[in-house]
Amino acid sequence: MSQHLADAPGSTLSSAASSAVAAGRKGWWRDAVIYQVYPRSFADGNGDGMGDLPGIRARLPYLKQLGVDAVWLSPFYASPQADAGYDVTDYCAVDPMFGTLTDADDLVRDAHALNLRVIVDLVPNHCSDQHEWFKQALREGPGSPLRERFHFRPGKGEHGELPPNDWESIFGGPAWTRTTHADGTPGDWYLHLFAAEQPDFNWDHPAVHDEFRSILRFWLDLGIDGFRIDVAHGLVKAAGLPDIGYSGQVRLLGTEAMPYFDQDGVHEIYRSWRKILDEYEGERIAVAEAWTPTVERSALYLRPDELHQAFNFEYLTTGWDATELRAVIDRSLTAMDAVGAPATWVLSNHDVVRHTTRLAVGAEERGLRRGRAATLLMLALPGSAYLYQGEELGLPEVVDLPDEVRQDPAFFRNSGQDGTRDGCRVPIPWAGDSAPYGFGPVEGGPSWLPQPAEWAGLSIEAQDGDPTSTLEFYRSALAVRHEHPALGAGRTVTWLEAPEGVLAFRRDSEHGTFVCTVNLTALPVSVPAPGRPLLASADFEAGEGESVVLPGDTTVWWAV
Ligand code: NOJ
Repeated sequence: MSQHLADAPGSTLSSAASSAVAAGRKGWWRDAVIYQVYPRSFADGNGDGMGDLPGIRARLPYLKQLGVDAVWLSPFYASPQADAGYDVTDYCAVDPMFGTLTDADDLVRDAHALNLRVIVDLVPNHCSDQHEWFKQALREGPGSPLRERFHFRPGKGEHGELPPNDWESIFGGPAWTRTTHADGTPGDWYLHLFAAEQPDFNWDHPAVHDEFRSILRFWLDLGIDGFRIDVAHGLVKAAGLPDIGYSGQVRLLGTEAMPYFDQDGVHEIYRSWRKILDEYEGERIAVAEAWTPTVERSALYLRPDELHQAFNFEYLTTGWDATELRAVIDRSLTAMDAVGAPATWVLSNHDVVRHTTRLAVGAEERGLRRGRAATLLMLALPGSAYLYQGEELGLPEVVDLPDEVRQDPAFFRNSGQDGTRDGCRVPIPWAGDSAPYGFGPVEGGPSWLPQPAEWAGLSIEAQDGDPTSTLEFYRSALAVRHEHPALGAGRTVTWLEAPEGVLAFRRDSEHGTFVCTVNLTALPVSVPAPGRPLLASADFEAGEGESVVLPGDTTVWWAV
């Protein structure tokens, strides 16, 4: 039996019909599949080797055909790119490298014409050291009122030569950099939880609140459907900026309690933002990137008068293990249900090793197989799912980038992130036999990171129409998910008895009953056949009997 069981005639809604459904639905975000576009690496419209907004706009029909509901764009604002755009100089301007504000406007308009919603990244924890406020604060020196908008402090030690406290940058090294006076003498220090080029805002200052409220309105007025809030847990710091007392504090996706993360004061900010979102028609949403010690703490960001969703990093960081996955699924559903928010699920993004590679540790040849099985599990869970560009092609992490092409600031700051983030940011292959594989318009043209030679076989062109390809597998999964509302909707799963290493759960809704079975072991396992198979992540024989042999690392969806 083929994996593409949903391709049978009449088994999927036409795209026009599913668009109509999407357009009219209330609470669209509760079960939306949201596709992350990393603008640098999606599609290069002008051939300079860097992805851009016109490139994305031209490829919107591809995303529509893929079957996603919304697109989240990582930052495309004016930025010196010290952290790939997460260092912003002007929050209401498009960096010329990505295009113009008109391009952003056109992109949003075209996306809406296709019934795709657009979510933009908002970076409120820090800006760029080239932001006007920070440049002026440095220029004016101690006593400048602009300094109050950041965290400037005198150093410790006899001559102020030691940082004001022991906080470490998430990218490695101290979280403080010392300033230099105009006459060349050393001055105060400023706080940056990330790179030195990303000074943290002081959210105790009303001007920072006012500024971000007007930035929200700027993009909402332009018509965007929501925000992904970068470092949503970091804006408020504990009073007095107390020492932590040990080193090796926290890395990206870290969940340890820290005086600079998950302080209760952040919630007041999100309550005020929610009011603004609710002033606009069309259910504008906000999704928090919040790394907190527990899912219950994450749920606090999603109380009815705060944000709509939060990324489920606990799910992302859980290995390919039936018991652990079941536990995190249960914990997530319970915690989110308590505040009436949908759970979210994510396997890959621009900060982590791609899941086909990550889930394969110790079983390298099974990476793609596990990746596909993991995707089908994720898309069967109630709530909203996030996809990262290229995962629909089964792209692996690029693990052999030469040091001289790397751009991740974490790589340069003592390899605070083990220098891994460039490997998931390599421009994606669209077509052709040679780099940049249609990423840019010119054959043999540049791409800001080199693409592996094997990627010719993984391009969209190479996979399009091939029923065994990962691209067609994702298209089928998203089509079935649209056709069977029981898939994303709802709040619970009912676990079914299953052999060790196998997960089986039922989802009931007024639209019907659905079962998902996942064999997380490497070996074939006999499981009950609860109904008609809809889709499988790998080939298997459905047979006629009451049980079926499920090959290792395989997920099946069943209509009951
Ligand atoms: C989280 C973003 O996802 C990451 O790419 C960025 O480096 C940090 N926040 C700092 O903005």
